[in-house]
Amino acid sequence: MSTALDAYWMPFTANRQFKQSPRLLTRAEGMHYIDDQGRQVLDGAAGLWCVNAGHNRPKIVQAIQQQAAELDYAPPFQMGHPKAFELAERLVKLLPEELTKVFYTNSGSEAVETALKMAIAYHRARGEGQRTRLIGRERGYHGVNFGGISVGGISTNRKMFGTMLGGVDHIRHTHDLARNAFSIGLPAYGAEFADDLERVIALHDASTIAAVIVEPVAGSTGVLIPPQGYLQRLREICDRHGILLIFDEVITGFGRTGSPFAAQTFGVVPDLMTVAKGLTNGCVPMGAVFARQSVHDVFMNGPEHLIEFFHGYTYSAHPLACAAALGTLDTYEEDGLLTRAAEMEGYFAEQLHSLKGEPNVIDVRNVGLVGGVELTPIAGEPAKRGFAAFLDCWNQGVLIRTTGDTIALSPPLIIARDQIDQLIGAIRTALRRL
Ligand SMILES: Cc1ncc(COP(=O)(O)O)c(C=O)c1O
Repeated sequence: MSTALDAYWMPFTANRQFKQSPRLLTRAEGMHYIDDQGRQVLDGAAGLWCVNAGHNRPKIVQAIQQQAAELDYAPPFQMGHPKAFELAERLVKLLPEELTKVFYTNSGSEAVETALKMAIAYHRARGEGQRTRLIGRERGYHGVNFGGISVGGISTNRKMFGTMLGGVDHIRHTHDLARNAFSIGLPAYGAEFADDLERVIALHDASTIAAVIVEPVAGSTGVLIPPQGYLQRLREICDRHGILLIFDEVITGFGRTGSPFAAQTFGVVPDLMTVAKGLTNGCVPMGAVFARQSVHDVFMNGPEHLIEFFHGYTYSAHPLACAAALGTLDTYEEDGLLTRAAEMEGYFAEQLHSLKGEPNVIDVRNVGLVGGVELTPIAGEPAKRGFAAFLDCWNQGVLIRTTGDTIALSPPLIIARDQIDQLIGAIRTALRRL
């Protein structure tokens, strides 16, 4: 192992494997990375589901450069700077009309913690302080902090970090290979999985439940597309029982499913929405929670000199992040990127589904510019086949992401048809020789 690589303990990485055979990215432009060997690598993952406009877009780069020279930092508590307000106004214009308030964070994980706290505090402010229970979903991924891993349903978190937050329960996941394998777009079967929320409500009583949090499209657990009618049903049940519905749109936000947000693609408006990643095109860390006016207004009582929501981060609304986000929104708008996934979905789906029949492929799933290819695990060695596919594609000059034994594709929204061909071709080659 090279000593130069020794000190950095890498996140969500097989450190020993990496340091024996490092994969170092040194530059990027458009759809491509350049590695330290000078190789061009096609980005099939938008970095990590975040570089939706492609890499090193001039407007974003300039916005960050100018901002760094103009206002480096402004305290976000009891103070503000103009771009934080300008950005919030711009974001609200993209959102379903019910969502009118923006609370900034620095990551998706922080957005999730913020939304969970907001939900609990909302009920308390309304005089229903007993509503503290949070409901997540099996296989859900909501970042890495304690609230997020508790409402999330990733078993490795439970194995590695032990007991989670108390007062949390889960509804069942929506994965149903037996009925839905190789569905194109939204699977036909499984709206009734939402009724599992009624089971949880019957157990705990609605009067103890603050919120339900789900990803409209679950990404990190292996790309699970919501069955037709499922999200509508969740919304109805939450409404019937006075429970807030939180959509975690950290990966689906900013054009990934063909509309600015998945809430619009699927026609279901949550009470709170978490975003990050594509908000700044991945250039500067930033997340946010979007809230309904009615949620916000509940907090706006009591003496006016007192803080209404006792929460925030030193770097909330950081000037560099706000500038990057404004440059990002300009770029999305100029290039029509927030709806481009809808235009490309047909071709992407056609190519992706051509992987049906390749060795070990047991399912192919898609929506917008999101693709999942589920592979049979090697007996007794889960995730090994997925990782081998990742390494093989990397060696071919294509960056994909794998989670367990599922290949998860989320290319920048600027991807061209021939680049889709290259991406799928590399996966096909990899599958045939694994
Ligand atoms: C749905 C979802 N929520 C939250 C997060 C956490 O975001 P971050 O890594 O920015 O903390 C992610 C990250 O992939 C995500 O996919």
